[in-house]
Amino acid sequence: MSQKGIVPPHGGRLVDRTGASAAPKKPTVSVILTERQQCDFEMIAIGAMSPLEGFMSEADYHRVCDDMSLADGTLWPMPITCAVDNATADKVGPGDRVALNDDAGRLLGYLNVTEKYKQDKKKHAVEGFGTEDLAHPGVKVLMDEGDTCLAGPIDVVTPRHDPMFPEHRRTPSQTRAEFARRGWKTIVAFQTRNPIHRAHEYITKCAQELVDGLLIHPLMGATKEGDIPPEVRMKCYQVLIDNYYNSDATMLSIMPAAMRYAGPKEAILHAILRQNYGCSHLIVGRDHAGVGDYYGTYDAQLIFETLPDGALHIQPMKFEHAAWSKKAGCMVSRKTFPAIEGDQIFLSGTKVREMLRRGERPPVEFTRTEVADILIESMKET
Ligand code: ADX
Repeated sequence: MSQKGIVPPHGGRLVDRTGASAAPKKPTVSVILTERQQCDFEMIAIGAMSPLEGFMSEADYHRVCDDMSLADGTLWPMPITCAVDNATADKVGPGDRVALNDDAGRLLGYLNVTEKYKQDKKKHAVEGFGTEDLAHPGVKVLMDEGDTCLAGPIDVVTPRHDPMFPEHRRTPSQTRAEFARRGWKTIVAFQTRNPIHRAHEYITKCAQELVDGLLIHPLMGATKEGDIPPEVRMKCYQVLIDNYYNSDATMLSIMPAAMRYAGPKEAILHAILRQNYGCSHLIVGRDHAGVGDYYGTYDAQLIFETLPDGALHIQPMKFEHAAWSKKAGCMVSRKTFPAIEGDQIFLSGTKVREMLRRGERPPVEFTRTEVADILIESMKET
């Protein structure tokens, strides 16, 4: 692997809207951001969505949907918008300054409105998610939003009030500083919205063998109902890192982004975000950021092959579907071990949840005992 230095941010410069000076103009209107918008606001605020300085313009929105790039040609896979209801939209126009609040009504910052436009939800759904099906959790969030988008740069009062896990909530400039302090130049990020099971552990360790450091970087923004809550996941990550990872080459930090469940397009977004955090590689395994059967098992890997050269400085590290082989006595994939009928331990998410709910540990070849116990305990509480 190359040892040149930590990768540059996407677009060349790390945006930091937290230091933006509050313009004197008084806000015209106050808006309560949706859960996803609050996550996007925080991600923009801390520079994780560089080069975005705010919510997207109409030209960016359409080019993102049509060509997977911003209006200036920079790679970008999904619209990042501040959609509001019609009553709010009627009161706002270009030049206005809108106060942005969280769902408890606390001020987060301001949007300096440059434009307002009607969004094309059908196009966004089809191009971004590959489906208009309301059963898709990302599409549902989109369809429930307002019809009009307010665009413009944000000024940040605070990225978030009462953030969870403040000690693990590093901004891109903080992860970059920590990588430099540790002398890491090649860093592989592991995106996850789940507890770390044995397959996850296996691919993270395979990846770790090839780079200076592993960043376990769970997504801790809005997720869908039924996903394991952040506090429970955090306990699982910590117990695993304490017992089964080398802390000299492993770092845990959280990413406050919302999950879109957009499969391939979201894999590109995840790569851009991790490049901003200073990572040279992103693990992309089986059905990355997928949900149900909307995407093919390796669609999120294949999409990287369609990108023009130089569009990204981060590289995907692609992994085949891994599982425990009884015959080999270790984790394998079809790349490393011949397929033998009935040899591998495959358990569906539903099956695992049923076992945990009954207080039964899944086989240790699927999940470490310590993780199973935390999950069983958490299910008793609900
Ligand atoms: S995701 O929505 O964040 O992608 P999850 O937390 O399950 O879901 O996956 C985290 C990462 O591990 C993704 O890159 C995913 O593709 C990969 N992954 C999950 N399970 C496996 C598996 N059994 N084999 C290979 N890769 C896997």
